[in-house]
Amino acid sequence: MPEHHSTFVVDGAQRAAKTPPGFKAEVAQLDTFKLPDRATGSLGDHLLGKALIDAWRKDGIIQIAMTDEEKKLWDDAKAASQKFFRQPHAAKAACVDSQSYAGYIASGEEVTDGIADYSEIFTITKDLGPSDPRVRAGWPCHGPCPWPDSAMKEAMTRYNEALGRQGEKLLGLIEMGLGLAPGSLTRYTRDGWHHTRVLRFPPRNMTNGKGKEGRGIGSHTDYGLLVIAAQDDVGGLFIRRPNEEEKFANWVKSAAGLREDDEGWMFIPPVDGVHTVILGDMMQYLTHGFLEATPHKVGLNTRERYAFAYFHEPSFQAVLKPLEGGCGGKLDRSAKDDQGIHYGTHFTNMFLRNYPDRITTKRMVAEGRYSLLDREELRTMDAPATL
Ligand SMILES: [Fe+2]
Repeated sequence: MPEHHSTFVVDGAQRAAKTPPGFKAEVAQLDTFKLPDRATGSLGDHLLGKALIDAWRKDGIIQIAMTDEEKKLWDDAKAASQKFFRQPHAAKAACVDSQSYAGYIASGEEVTDGIADYSEIFTITKDLGPSDPRVRAGWPCHGPCPWPDSAMKEAMTRYNEALGRQGEKLLGLIEMGLGLAPGSLTRYTRDGWHHTRVLRFPPRNMTNGKGKEGRGIGSHTDYGLLVIAAQDDVGGLFIRRPNEEEKFANWVKSAAGLREDDEGWMFIPPVDGVHTVILGDMMQYLTHGFLEATPHKVGLNTRERYAFAYFHEPSFQAVLKPLEGGCGGKLDRSAKDDQGIHYGTHFTNMFLRNYPDRITTKRMVAEGRYSLLDREELRTMDAPATL
């Protein structure tokens, strides 16, 4: 362990493992990093950025101490989540929107690699009202968030805003750790398409028999830059470490179902007062695979489980290109022949694939909205959001 490392680490102690029954996995022992209040570009920030990158390249996941404020926001968000999910089905099912994918997803509704997941989800996307020009113009996935009430809206929004600040800080530290010019990553996250999955998993003996026993969410990678997650004390998250023998590119060919039943999974035990951070497809693409998207899956445990995953993303309108330079020449391959990836299209494809029967998918198809993704104004971050 490098000498500087210890100055960032709170402690390496873990609580007792609570691996879900029926899963064989190594139990992770992760150090917990402490982030500065502000990343200023100091030597310490550069060293921290390098230490974070080393940890992602070794383990595929890092653990960060919550601030006291974040801990309070997570507690409030978790309480709002429990209140929401304990309502009758009809009340939850009313929280859908035909233009955005925000809102309720029932247990067994989401499909990963053709098999039902038992997660119960409230998705939060950018909350855009009917007067927003992007909504008026029918841009795919753009619309309001169908909140059940203002209390949930407030708790979730405040937590998301705090995680948004943390996401920007992490991207800044990654830029420093990779030796990139400031803004190399954060230029894509202006008006980022950040979103959140508020998650509840039933206990494994309380499912409807549509999916696979013990299946919470099947193996997959997430599609953006960073995923900052919190979990309660039950346990269910598994990840795979970066591995030379396992190469994949989810934006070319779906990584869903990848190595689902293979050996080699690592269980991430719940630790009080931390966020975990894994990487998404766009980080892998930008860094030519130097940082890889982290395959993960969720198993059902003996008790119900609450978790929260915040996705720190590029702008919907961003067209990403692999980085040129940085990381001591390791990222120095030319990107000029690469067409780039339009994040809005990548995002829309993921949701179409996961929710083929949702009202949002049906309306998008019926109104021919998908073809708007090819239009110039949806692929230019500097363009005014008016048509
Ligand atoms: Fe995920």
